[in-house]
Amino acid sequence: MTVSLLPAILIVFAVGGDSVEAPVVGGGALSAKESLGKKLFFDANLSEPAGQSCSTCHAAERSFADPEVGLPVSRGVRKERFGSRNDLPAAYASFSPPFGYDADEGLYVGGQFWDGRATDLAEQAKGPFVNELEMANPSEKAVVDKVARADYAVLFKKIYGADAFSDPNRAYDYVADAIAAYEKSHELNRFDSKYDFYLAGKVKLSEQELRGLRLFTDEDRAKCAECHPSDRGEDGSPPLFTDFTYDNLGAPKNAENPFYYLPKEFNPAGVAFVDLGLGGVLNKAEEHGKFKVPSLRNVAVTGPYFHNGIFKTLREVVVFYNTRDVGPWPEPEVAANVNRDELGDLGLTEAEVDDIVAFLHTLTDGYDSKDGK
Ligand code: HEC
Ligand code: HEC
Repeated sequence: MTVSLLPAILIVFAVGGDSVEAPVVGGGALSAKESLGKKLFFDANLSEPAGQSCSTCHAAERSFADPEVGLPVSRGVRKERFGSRNDLPAAYASFSPPFGYDADEGLYVGGQFWDGRATDLAEQAKGPFVNELEMANPSEKAVVDKVARADYAVLFKKIYGADAFSDPNRAYDYVADAIAAYEKSHELNRFDSKYDFYLAGKVKLSEQELRGLRLFTDEDRAKCAECHPSDRGEDGSPPLFTDFTYDNLGAPKNAENPFYYLPKEFNPAGVAFVDLGLGGVLNKAEEHGKFKVPSLRNVAVTGPYFHNGIFKTLREVVVFYNTRDVGPWPEPEVAANVNRDELGDLGLTEAEVDDIVAFLHTLTDGYDSKDGK
């Protein structure tokens, strides 16, 4: 499904000048607030016990996604604990509009997490510190106390005032505000993939990548761009490869998810646990099994894939889209609301599957146009 609502993107395109390498300008030093947010994001002292930061699960070299690729989900600071879901990259997350209902389209749009339960980045950032399966602090105040003792507390007070720590609730809001500012910075939103250079007319895609792109956007073939739009916005803004809507693609359960085997205090349902996604948050049966369409920027470096990490490679993902309804796939985890219009039996050849995978590899940031690749 495509939706007209797109977030305003405040990226300025490069204008002339031979020295400009990247197709999109966004560089320069971080602002004071962004720098503070970065310190918070990378501070492994902010877990209980110390040892896990946001960046432990959101590493810069993996598009700010979890570097522990051998697991379908993320491991907490207490090593025997796991969350129920695959991580999402923090890169480009800032472009998701606040969670809401688009009455014209009749669809839920935006928000943070696979199920949209946090409306925006600041609300999202308040979760992991006190999540028992992640950074496991006993309270928000415990986090604030650690921040107040950190060497960057001076910077914190410079930005939020001399009395910034006097009210723990307010101070926790400031922590989230600074982290959100960092996540909006150019460090996480680089727009310098091969595809960005291609859109800027600075590099050619290979024959195979071009074939993949054509299939990706073809409404009668792979149909990917129906949910992962690949064109620039009307205002020239770069594509984000998501329309921020929610869908049930019929992904099977992932028996390798260690969450199933956690003690009852964390997972009362045991192996019978079913992830209802958006429907669980809204308590609406018609949204059961739906998850947010993720951006595909940097997707080649963010595996495993899907909300439960069921697919280890991009090729497996594309084969699933191609053959879900005609191949030997297990039942969907949630049988209700499965999208049967846009996927399941695409009729792609093996070579066409490879072409799409090749195209997905052009979405990785840090492409150097001088390589001429
Ligand atoms: C233990 C690993 C772990 C830690 C630590 C962690 N995250 Fe996450 N993060 C995840 C997982 C898993 C998800 C997806 C969970 C879900 O959707 O329910 C996620 C989702 C997110 C998202 C949503 C992205 C989107 O597109 O919706 C953002 C943003 C994010 N994390 C930022 C942070 C910040 C900021 C911190 C530190 C305060 C943090 N994370 C700490 C694992 C982690
Ligand atoms: C109907 C909307 C829709 C269409 C069409 C669609 N996708 Fe998706 N895509 C999604 C949703 C929703 C998810 C997350 C599903 C989940 O986790 O259960 C997803 C996940 C993915 C992922 C995993 C990303 C990650 O970070 O885990 C990849 C890769 C992907 N899609 C590629 C494609 C390709 C390639 C096509 C075309 C063959 C395509 N998609 C067509 C909605 C769509």
